[in-house]
Amino acid sequence: MTVPSPLDDVRAQYEALPYPPRDPRDEAVRLITGTPSHILEVNHYLFAGRLNFNRPFRALVAGGGTGDACIMLAQQLVDRRCPAEVVYLDLSSASRQVCEARAKARGLRTVRFLTGSLLDLPNMGIGSFDYIDCTGVLHHLPDPSAGMKALASVLEPEGGIGVMLYGRYGRAGVYPLQEMLRTLAPPSMAIEDRIAMAKRLIRFLPTTNQFRRNPYVNDHVTAGDAGLYDLLLHSIDRAFTVPEIGTLAGDAGLRVVSFRGPVRYEPATYMSYPVIARQTSSLPLLERAAFAECLAGNLRTHVFYATRADFDTVARPEDSQAIPVLREVDAQKLAVGLQPGTPLVANLDGFPWRSQLPPLAARIISQIDGRRSVAEIYTSLSTQGALPPWEDFYAQFEDLYVKLNGVNHLLLRFRT
Ligand SMILES: C[S@@+](CC[C@H](N)C(=O)[O-])C[C@H]1O[C@@H](n2cnc3c(N)ncnc32)[C@H](O)[C@@H]1O
Repeated sequence: MTVPSPLDDVRAQYEALPYPPRDPRDEAVRLITGTPSHILEVNHYLFAGRLNFNRPFRALVAGGGTGDACIMLAQQLVDRRCPAEVVYLDLSSASRQVCEARAKARGLRTVRFLTGSLLDLPNMGIGSFDYIDCTGVLHHLPDPSAGMKALASVLEPEGGIGVMLYGRYGRAGVYPLQEMLRTLAPPSMAIEDRIAMAKRLIRFLPTTNQFRRNPYVNDHVTAGDAGLYDLLLHSIDRAFTVPEIGTLAGDAGLRVVSFRGPVRYEPATYMSYPVIARQTSSLPLLERAAFAECLAGNLRTHVFYATRADFDTVARPEDSQAIPVLREVDAQKLAVGLQPGTPLVANLDGFPWRSQLPPLAARIISQIDGRRSVAEIYTSLSTQGALPPWEDFYAQFEDLYVKLNGVNHLLLRFRT
């Protein structure tokens, strides 16, 4: 007789409701890109921008679901003619079928598909990986720490991992709703009845209810019934604070090197009182990030990169040979919109962020093509009109870099 395990309920959910819902026919018209695991991010945060795509590269997408990260990464590596293998692993065969169909629609032959639990990775005999993606999975494990350790056990010594976990404070309102639904729509009920009950409860929530007052938690609207079930009826769901993430990584022998969208993790972003902003600016990364998450209160997910390498794996702009690369932003359009004096603005899930850019911002951006280094951009601009001395120019580039990288628009790479 086999003993039922908590993973059985998780598997059953994703067999019935693969998440997120995807139609393989859409591969003909678009590639879904995201974070973590965009190849520009992986290169920037984990390989100091110096990945050599001529060398073999092995990636694991653990809990790959319907395939967003797997398809993106496999396609981006093929586009760079990298001799890569991407291994997809998931508990749910229904999810795997969707991802397989998406890979087939794109003619991707570099993905190897496996069905199973990531907890079994140490004994699977599938080798080790340069990069591991684990997005939205560990918070659905009975013991997330065991999951993180299983992932770390198959990570190359200088490899890295990109993770997404739920954020505790930004999911305000979700857990009381889950609690009510355990009473109103227990797991013994049919999935459709549970979903119907959850919809009813949402419709009749009082205006004071925290979930109703948190419009940024909206998977139940954007991802249909699968999203609603994932958000409110999941059998295992826990959210993390930044310090808990530090512990989770540390217990697996890993170190967090950056959170995605670094400005969101800087207290100064949300703090207009300069004394407090200054006081927090000298804290180490994890402490600054922990302070920022308490202050902002709206970080509903945490995306972070971690490694066990004992050297700096993040690309830095100090080197004039750094090649700035805009991520899914048209340089010319951005440059036109940023004439001198125009601030950079972003809506950080309800927080209106504005940042003054250096005077040369638009001219520098107009030269960013993902191939020219900062030094080459300086040379090119100097043929088009007066420029300040190199040191002043470089200080302006660094200022621009911090702000655009802060909202995940700009990354760096180096020639290899
Ligand atoms: C919320 S979905 C996320 C899917 C995908 N990573 C994404 O972000 O689009 C979680 C996925 O993790 C899978 N999963 C949960 N526990 C797992 C485990 N122990 N081993 C492998 N996969 C697991 C589920 O089957 C499901 O497909």
